[in-house]
Amino acid sequence: MTQSDEISFDAFDELQSPRPEDTEFDAVVQKALSRRGFMGGVLALGSVATLGATLPSASRAATSRFAFEAVAASTEDSITVPAGYKADIVVRWGDPMWSGAPEFDDSTRGTAAAQARAFGDNIDGMEIFHHQGHILITVNNEYTNRSIIWGNRPDAKPETDDDIEKGMMAHGVSVIELAHGDSGWAMVKNSPFNRRITPRTEMEITGPARGHALLQTAADPEGATAIGTWNNCGSGQTPWGTYLACEENFNGYFSATDKDHKVSAELKRYGVSSKDWGYGWANIDDRFNVEHNPNEPNRAGYVVEIDPRDPTSTPKKRTALGRFKHENAECVINQDGRLVIYMGDDERGEFLYRYVSDGVFSPGVDTDDLMENGTLYAAKFHDSGAGEWLALTPETTGMSAAEICIHTRIAASSVGATTMDRPEWVAANPTKAEVYCALTNNKNRSIKPNAGGDLTPATGPNPRAENNYGQIVRWRPNGSDHTATGFAWDLYVLAGNPTVHDDAYAGSKNIMPDNMFNSPDGLVFDSTGLLWIQTDGNYSNAEGFAGQGNNQMLAGDPVTGEIRRFLVGPSECEVTGLCWSPDRRTMFVGIQHPGERGNSHWPAGGTSVPRSAVIAVSREDGGLVG
Ligand code: FEO
Ligand code: CA
Ligand code: CA
Repeated sequence: MTQSDEISFDAFDELQSPRPEDTEFDAVVQKALSRRGFMGGVLALGSVATLGATLPSASRAATSRFAFEAVAASTEDSITVPAGYKADIVVRWGDPMWSGAPEFDDSTRGTAAAQARAFGDNIDGMEIFHHQGHILITVNNEYTNRSIIWGNRPDAKPETDDDIEKGMMAHGVSVIELAHGDSGWAMVKNSPFNRRITPRTEMEITGPARGHALLQTAADPEGATAIGTWNNCGSGQTPWGTYLACEENFNGYFSATDKDHKVSAELKRYGVSSKDWGYGWANIDDRFNVEHNPNEPNRAGYVVEIDPRDPTSTPKKRTALGRFKHENAECVINQDGRLVIYMGDDERGEFLYRYVSDGVFSPGVDTDDLMENGTLYAAKFHDSGAGEWLALTPETTGMSAAEICIHTRIAASSVGATTMDRPEWVAANPTKAEVYCALTNNKNRSIKPNAGGDLTPATGPNPRAENNYGQIVRWRPNGSDHTATGFAWDLYVLAGNPTVHDDAYAGSKNIMPDNMFNSPDGLVFDSTGLLWIQTDGNYSNAEGFAGQGNNQMLAGDPVTGEIRRFLVGPSECEVTGLCWSPDRRTMFVGIQHPGERGNSHWPAGGTSVPRSAVIAVSREDGGLVG
């Protein structure tokens, strides 16, 4: 067992840039905690007994849409799936994508050159594409854990420039072809579609911010060509079959020679500081030295469009979709043909966004235009259950179109959007005009303002102070029109622990001892309209989290509110990334950072190095999954 000195991105940001305490919140906390029954139906806060009494387990089974038996919480260093299901490894961090690249070496954890030709680390968002008879999956490689990738070094710190470069090459995106053979699903080595996109891949900057002075650097005086993408969290898929990689905690890679160097207020809003998260990139590439290149961080924090069908294509940073700590990008074609993209900014007290294209989609149109010309909005939630989208325009913000795309958080603060409990994935119901967003947790709710000083009262869809459990909000656009200004919202679930609490922290009525969880993060609808919920939370299985076990994946029925646990991941992992094979008989699930604190040897067991991996979950009888 090793003790890691790693802390979360959020904790790191707050250490570098402490949020002011705000004692005015005390009154708001009391108000929030005294509120009861402000949501109807399954959403009402209440005790476990209520749902159990009205919905006996026998009738639950008879009416349930779930074709699987619930699995119990687990703290084992293994995958748990329901009876009749199996989980197989498809591809792991460090697996070579081409012949001639070495197999992963546990003792060295590889070199930069080997990593550049191998599947990346810490898999997150994942989408599947079918192209000319080939099945491609595109997977984000979000980040690396120092204790794992440099765990062969005595203090888990990089010793050489190659160590740092190896870490860099483990970031980015992996495009791989998959095929199903005698031993199940596997990567097709040497497929012409296989591609690694890294922090060194050239990308085009598009949209309103392209060429703006804030994006110009010595290496790119035009402000039109960015190098690389990193910390890609969730994903999206466009209606025209391209992949969207979403840059999240991009700030933690910049540092300064002078540790007392003060960055601008605008960079501070995004958590950029003189100190990085431990990656050391400025040691090998000066563009990550924010003292020397203060505009470089303005070139990250975007949604990147990648065409997985063309390995020679240049990825495009879509500045029109705004700059923040992007979680995912959920694309919807509205009833009038306009493209609507829902996006969360995953930081405590930041905002939920919507983008609406000016043009309409139809097969063959210039899709470049659809993600370049449009309007960004930030969400405002009212306690009444109504909400509205606030347009971010030069008129409403006093900022230029380019500035809105670069300093999007500042624009959203200026219009008074609602501060949220860390918006993670957004998922649109394929069977109706209804959208869900995981609000993963927010220990600062009603305790501290966000990084921009906006207050965070415990109200509306963020009703609990010091919210360590999280919730899922959903909304229906007025008139089923995703471009409408107004919407109606409620909470689909408040996560909690009914075995520990008997108040709001017990969770909503659809949370019981046998399905409880914390920190919903990944959210993906399947084609039948079931909502799959993946967690990235506290896996201590103790105190307020007792009985919840490792991170997991559950299925939710949007109509009845029923939630059932489907899968539990190995020790210290996060379950993230989800897509289905074309025949829906296999579910591909991402297992990120098993053993992030030194306590896993998944998947190989023994004394092996823990490795992030994509798994294939299927039924032993070959039936449809889910
Ligand atoms: Fe990378 Fe918001 O999780
Ligand atoms: Ca996430
Ligand atoms: Ca998360």
